[in-house]
Amino acid sequence: MKDPAEELYREEIMDHYQNPRNYGKMESPDIAYHDYNPVCGDEVEMQLKLEDGMVKEAMFTGKGCTISQAAASMLTGEVRGKGIKDAVAMTQSDMLKIIRINPGPVRVKCAMLALRALQKGIIQHEAAKAR
Ligand code: FES
Repeated sequence: MKDPAEELYREEIMDHYQNPRNYGKMESPDIAYHDYNPVCGDEVEMQLKLEDGMVKEAMFTGKGCTISQAAASMLTGEVRGKGIKDAVAMTQSDMLKIIRINPGPVRVKCAMLALRALQKGIIQHEAAKAR
């Protein structure tokens, strides 16, 4: 028998895929980082506005599989108001808690695409500031 909670979470993923939140190009973001999965070519660009070491706004664009795009949509909501250090410290397990399904070992890369782009963008931004 199917787990009703799991079904609900899958529906939520589909909803985020079909009606992505915070989708589009931000005007003058502090960070814009494009990343892709070399295996399939699916891509995500995360854009952030920062204020006092926190993520003030997050948006994304991208194209690809349901999980990669839904995860990006969900992440833009989760990361708002978060300290950038905390965002960089987020793990795979944090991301799986956000999407609330276990995509399995092959699709976990799909779930991680947006978080990796976000983290690489922040790291690059901080490194440029330190120079
Ligand atoms: Fe490409 Fe999911 S199949 S990121």
